[in-house]
Amino acid sequence: MSWQIPLNSLTRHAVTQNVEDYLSKDTDEYALIDELKARHRLSRIYRFDIGKNTDGYSDLIEGVLEMADLAGLCRENLVEYPDNHYQKLVKRMAAIFKLAPSCFSISAGLECMIDHICRSFLHPGAHFLLPIPNFSVFESFSLRSGASPLYLQLDKNQNFQWTEKTVEKMLDLIKEKQPALVWISNPVNPTGQSIPISWIQAVTERALAVNTAVVVDEAYGEYIDPDYDRKGAFSLVPSHPNLMVLRTFSKIHALPGIRVGYMMCGDPEIINAVKIYRPMFPFSWFSLFVAQTAVVDDEQPIKARQKTLKRKRELFSRLDTMADYQYLPTTTNTFMLRHRSIPADLLWQKLAARGMLTANLNGINGLQGEEFLRITIRARADNARLINALENVENKVC
Ligand SMILES: Cc1ncc(COP(=O)(O)O)c(C=O)c1O
Repeated sequence: MSWQIPLNSLTRHAVTQNVEDYLSKDTDEYALIDELKARHRLSRIYRFDIGKNTDGYSDLIEGVLEMADLAGLCRENLVEYPDNHYQKLVKRMAAIFKLAPSCFSISAGLECMIDHICRSFLHPGAHFLLPIPNFSVFESFSLRSGASPLYLQLDKNQNFQWTEKTVEKMLDLIKEKQPALVWISNPVNPTGQSIPISWIQAVTERALAVNTAVVVDEAYGEYIDPDYDRKGAFSLVPSHPNLMVLRTFSKIHALPGIRVGYMMCGDPEIINAVKIYRPMFPFSWFSLFVAQTAVVDDEQPIKARQKTLKRKRELFSRLDTMADYQYLPTTTNTFMLRHRSIPADLLWQKLAARGMLTANLNGINGLQGEEFLRITIRARADNARLINALENVENKVC
């Protein structure tokens, strides 16, 4: 029987939008991995495609997992609704970032926070300003709200880096178009560039003058904290009420499975607005328990950052000797790479056949046809395998 599904107009509009997502809901990755293993007779697939810290979480969490009474805790908590006020977690983070606890809002990962922001600020007729390439979820969630994009294409001749010119263009667009929202990732996903805080401040101040809100997603922020002199965009929060700064436990903390992300914002009205869209109980008690443990360990992010830096130097010094490849410098644990003559689809396949899974960026808005892959820096031995695979491709060993 045919029938007219009574979807609302925004949902109808959203299903026609086709933004390449960072993880496709329709690709069964586990099946893909099994298929690659079987087809190429591989015992293991190395995931260079996911941007998290692959060294794992804090030792304190290992302690949690080994707790003698963990089963007892599970029995006790599984039958209760979880705590959804997050006071302990928020107090700890307030101390770390030197902000009032009232400046924090917690969500089930940043992807949910991005959704709550879109619902709070965007609507058909509104505009959002998006420098591209960027984290694709900003675009897909904004588009499904019915708002219209103002894209700012980063210059390929500048390797897609923000420059003074980018800032000037942003300032002009904000003044002229007065978008409801500006989306910035810093460090930028996927380029890995770290945008100077003075540029973020200039954009935020221009935006404030025309009632535009600015989101600075610092999902990879801990990778650059020391360069920032512990002054990420969160340091602008008390003086810039239109600024929302986002961080997550998914990246340097190596805990994407707990689904905990947070916003820092100085305007209580914005904090309340995004909370309206938050589910009553966004994640389980165990996620909270683990997040509360992770924030106590100050050393883990520092160690992860130092390790990444060392491995990055090693990896890049090898890549520097391989004439066929071009890579972009990065301040995070991921970097963009392309082969000078092999297209990204084919390079992806050649690496996958050698057990190296990478992220193909050809479908990302702003990078179409640029033939880049995005690669996560892993443990030294894994990086050596990757280099070996890249050399094999370079030397055309099939
Ligand atoms: C810039 C950026 N923001 C947010 C996220 C998603 O974070 P979460 O796992 O907290 O949803 C990612 C994940 O890749 C990201 O790169």
